[in-house]
Amino acid sequence: MSAVEEYSGAIDRGLEGIVACSTSISTIAGTTLLFRGYTIEDLAANATFEEVAYLLWHGRLPQQTGLDALRKQLGESLALPQEARVWLLGLPKNVHPMDFLHAVVAGLSLHDPDANLLDRDATLRKATRLTARIGTIIGAYHRARLGQWPMDPCPDRSLAWNFLYGILGHEPDDEDVRDFEICLVLHADHELNASAFSARVTASSLSGIYSSVMAAIGTLKGSLHGGANEAVLRMLREIGSPKNLDAFLDDAFKTGKKVMGFGHRVYKEGDPRAHILKKMSERLTRKVGRPELFEMSAQLEEKMAARKGLIPNVDFYSATVYDSLGIPVDLFTPVFAASRISGWCAHVLEQYENNRIYRPRGRYVGERDLRYAPIAKR
Ligand code: COA
Repeated sequence: MSAVEEYSGAIDRGLEGIVACSTSISTIAGTTLLFRGYTIEDLAANATFEEVAYLLWHGRLPQQTGLDALRKQLGESLALPQEARVWLLGLPKNVHPMDFLHAVVAGLSLHDPDANLLDRDATLRKATRLTARIGTIIGAYHRARLGQWPMDPCPDRSLAWNFLYGILGHEPDDEDVRDFEICLVLHADHELNASAFSARVTASSLSGIYSSVMAAIGTLKGSLHGGANEAVLRMLREIGSPKNLDAFLDDAFKTGKKVMGFGHRVYKEGDPRAHILKKMSERLTRKVGRPELFEMSAQLEEKMAARKGLIPNVDFYSATVYDSLGIPVDLFTPVFAASRISGWCAHVLEQYENNRIYRPRGRYVGERDLRYAPIAKR
């Protein structure tokens, strides 16, 4: 039997430049982002989030009957199973909402009759339930921590409407619903981002979609990924006023602190989603009477470009958009999850279609030739 060779090739830290799979779900193409061939600008201007979820899962935009069927299934799935409602209200609420979401998604797998089925139909049924329920879970968490009963979801309304309704506790404004829906469309997928990759790695061992979504939620939570939108608003509040921007940046650069919402592994010229969100942020901060938040953000953008050549990513202007829509800051990353769930599910479905387990190599740089010593002799 020949010995397994140790890996001695080049290391791509952060897997930059590694192409880990073929995908037809989404890609960054020049200055735009494509979902199944459609530009993000086209989808943001015209599509509903439900249509985009269908597009990502099935590879084509739905006909009316397909869309009606998906809306009906999503509507019927919005409410959590009765057993889950009982234990959910007993969970601690003084935790980060992403941890709460993670725990509840794990718990919901225990009530799902399809939990361990891997075929496409069962995976689509679970994708539908998960996509409908993430908003319901976040709404229940938020209301419960305020000492209020969760709102009952409205099955004949959109996911965007139900999300805002669940958090705000009253019927949302129609224009806000459409703006929020555009945010859901913009965040739905993004090629092989860290959380989608996590979902695929987990799927590749032939674990079910709940495990994949839990892995993805955990990955999204971090401040270098989805957690950045929450960090952006906290940073803007810390800066407080445009007159403090230079001092803030001097300190960040001196101490090697990342400026949240800037930089990207792939985009170097501009993130097309950020362009759309910037316009929305300008309009919405004016609408709620806080244009100074946008002005400060725009000045920070200019200074980051001039001093570091770094561009805003999707998280930068989404922070002031969500804030203007009345969403509490610690729910910003869960909003991201409520959208990206559609992309994660598409990646799991695609991974199952042409699966090979992910198993890269590591270059060993540790000790050798050590001998075990009894504990008293160490
Ligand atoms: N603020 C300050 N410097 C930054 C920066 C930021 N937001 N983003 C990148 N840089 C600098 C790094 O310090 C590094 O400088 P160096 O070469 O002198 O060490 C260089 O730019 C490359 O950055 P790096 O972190 O290696 O890039 P990456 O591709 O590994 O990471 C991000 C990409 C998005 C994780 C990174 O830009 C970042 O941490 N941004 C802030 C968090 C954020 O907004 N995340 C949301 C992503 S959508």
